[in-house]
Amino acid sequence: MKQIQFSTTTSLDLQNFDTLIVPVFEDANIPKQLQNLALDKLVKNLIKSNDFKASSAKTLMLITQEKINRICLVGVGKQNKITDKSYLKICQAIAKEINQSGAKNCLNLINSIFTAKNSGSLYQATLSMQQSQYDYIHPSRGEHKAKKTYLEKMVFFNKDNMQNKQSIQQAQATANGMQLTQDLANMPSNFCTPSYLAKTAKQLAKDYGFECNVLEREQMIKMGMGSFMSVAQGCATPPKMICLSYQGSNNKDDAPIALVGKGVTFDTGGISLKPGAGMDEMKYDMGGAATVLGVFKALGELKPKINVVGVIPSTENMPSGDAIKPGDVVTSLSGQTIEILNTDAEGRLILCDALTYTQKTYQPKQIIDMATLTGACIIALGHHISAILGNNQQLIDDLLTASNTTYDRFWQLPLSEEYDEQLKSNFADMANIGGKGAGTITAAQFLARFTKNVAWAHLDIAGTAWTSGINKGATGRPVPALVEFLTKNG
Ligand code: BES
Ligand code: MN
Ligand code: ZN
Repeated sequence: MKQIQFSTTTSLDLQNFDTLIVPVFEDANIPKQLQNLALDKLVKNLIKSNDFKASSAKTLMLITQEKINRICLVGVGKQNKITDKSYLKICQAIAKEINQSGAKNCLNLINSIFTAKNSGSLYQATLSMQQSQYDYIHPSRGEHKAKKTYLEKMVFFNKDNMQNKQSIQQAQATANGMQLTQDLANMPSNFCTPSYLAKTAKQLAKDYGFECNVLEREQMIKMGMGSFMSVAQGCATPPKMICLSYQGSNNKDDAPIALVGKGVTFDTGGISLKPGAGMDEMKYDMGGAATVLGVFKALGELKPKINVVGVIPSTENMPSGDAIKPGDVVTSLSGQTIEILNTDAEGRLILCDALTYTQKTYQPKQIIDMATLTGACIIALGHHISAILGNNQQLIDDLLTASNTTYDRFWQLPLSEEYDEQLKSNFADMANIGGKGAGTITAAQFLARFTKNVAWAHLDIAGTAWTSGINKGATGRPVPALVEFLTKNG
């Protein structure tokens, strides 16, 4: 992914630019600060002649004979009616128009649609522009297929202050983290194995000075991770528990925030085999793991003063002669026993041991796990919003705030003891499925039994980690919200 250079300027001197991006309100007005540009008449005529409509996120690229080669007009709708969502769409529309042009060096005036009080989100403008450069290039597909864009530099008409610098920096680090998350998730499961995730973590550790420790199958069996190991027992590909540690706090002994990510590199369902249609998308079942690695990349670049650990239980879920079978009972690392009634509810089986291991090893002050955990989450929230559940409302509220700030949205679902009864088993401490209703909640109720003594939040990203259909691909979510949470709440 090409790195664009972003900066700010308070001058409207067009000398050094080949392209000017100008916001236009629906009533044909352009923001007052831009009146020196003397574009009002041109814009009014374009709208009058029906060549441009300044409704939100509509664009028109004008080629000029002046010293500036292009003017990209972008409709922003009604003044004072701009929402977080419409602003994001506007930023994405600009990115699309610029990427289709030969623009190399842009002066972007989009932020002048905001009044002084609301200084506007350079973060979203930067992130959208940088993210639009993303293109998955599988090694065997060759460079020649790479998306070709020309943009090198974008300068925002905005104050050159600390806050703006930080917004730009955070957006760039987030885009780089998302790129790693997307690359890993898009990579097919015969390449992106647990070992490949471990290799990626080790490389990150080398690049940014993290500690990295990878547990192997024999060690984990010996330690008593009977639940995680029961999922891995049917797989020829070796499982890994990948542990990363970032020490940014001045005090090395500060309790860390822990991120735990589900790393099922392919989920066939196991003996409770999934139907064939769309099964290829189960290569994305390591989206939680990829998010942890993406967030660590961003941490490495931003270096906030906090301690963070990342723990990734990773395996495939395969049917085989050695695979676990419905009705089998296993003992988790916590000592609690589990009757596996459906081998396709494997995510919670690997996460529960990772959650126990994380608490024992790192004594974190907070644990956030993220997982493509339940199809039920897609029924509940679709593909726009991730589910959040947990045992500590303050932690959940802070995560919700971060999700709203970045427009990488979460919505809280409840935990409650009534749902917990659905996990009853006659043969073990609990079953691994909770029956028909509230599948996302019962999955979280299961995890809650392994996080009783720590502030814990769970993100179900089954609907948001990738998109299906013609534009199938990883989204890089929820890297933006987590990076925001970690930089603001450390
Ligand atoms: N990885 C799946 C969840 C999933 C399914 C995510 C489809 C995204 C799209 C998970 O391991 C799973 O199979 N869950 C089961 C649980 C059920 C057996 C209780 C599900 O949701 O069907
Ligand atoms: Mn499954
Ligand atoms: Zn799964």
